[in-house]
Amino acid sequence: MMERQPLNGFDGVEGLDDEFSLVYPSAISLKERTQQQRYQKLFWGSLAGNVVALVLAVVALVFALLGSPIEQQTGLDSKNQPSSPREISRVAFGSCSAYDVRPQPIWENAIIPSAPDAWVWLGDFAYLDDTLVRCSATPSAPECNCTATFMSYPPNQCLAGNLDTARVRMARQVNSPGYRAFLEYMCPGHGDKFLHPAPPQGSSPSVCPRPVLGVYDDHDWGWNNGNRRLPHKTEFKNLYLDALGEPASSPRRNANNGIQTSYSFNQSPKGTPTSESKQIDLFITDGRFYRDTLPCQVRRNS
Ligand SMILES: *[C@@H]1O[C@H](CO)[C@@H](O)[C@H](O)[C@H]1NC(C)=O
Repeated sequence: MMERQPLNGFDGVEGLDDEFSLVYPSAISLKERTQQQRYQKLFWGSLAGNVVALVLAVVALVFALLGSPIEQQTGLDSKNQPSSPREISRVAFGSCSAYDVRPQPIWENAIIPSAPDAWVWLGDFAYLDDTLVRCSATPSAPECNCTATFMSYPPNQCLAGNLDTARVRMARQVNSPGYRAFLEYMCPGHGDKFLHPAPPQGSSPSVCPRPVLGVYDDHDWGWNNGNRRLPHKTEFKNLYLDALGEPASSPRRNANNGIQTSYSFNQSPKGTPTSESKQIDLFITDGRFYRDTLPCQVRRNS
């Protein structure tokens, strides 16, 4: 396995739930939150973002080149690929983890038992920008008190673009026990070790015989409904790619491009008839890195 640099924020997040309740004693419940119109907007915004963000084509192609059974078009390091990795048949998708990283039994109760051969994050792996306190009840909380800018406006959007918060939030999701159990299923032998120094390389069949892949959406981007104007966007992008276990050398990390990419599973030899090909091509697009700003008249609620 490729050695990785330790990542700021991925170490030492233990006792997640205890720490969480200590740090965020007034965290609001999902029930309370759904009463807020803002949350509904946020939910639908995320959903629309996911649909736009990811054009997913799962197509068997006869035009395949001979190649490794999982191949990434944008230059995935293929040196570690084993000669006979698992065939990919059942591809699972998911998005929108609980914003407050509450316990996530869905991993062990539903996702692992469904035995996915591959997993694709469709966005909002972690919510980096949401306040965890109820700002109407605690207006003096630092995360509710900021000067309005083009991306942060009080009280609920003060954390937009805050890299320090983002690192903590991302580490919490990566280290949440349910997700670790999931990673141990997808990447046997790595679920417990991945903190040291980093999550397992999700696209490497030798590390994760069941690949863990994906793309961010706005909350992973650190800015609700955010766009290309995000300051420090390379840092935010790499924070996400760190969480995904993207190799340090990946072109997805380049400062001048987004994280769009594609993968091929079960590559068929050239000339294989469609009926016999088990090849799956997965196309991931990036709906944030290049995204234009909204027109002025719709940029603010008020
Ligand atoms: C918000 O912060 C400013 C500057 O630190 C402070 O003067 C103000 O009292 C704070 N507002 C609230 C509601 O706590």
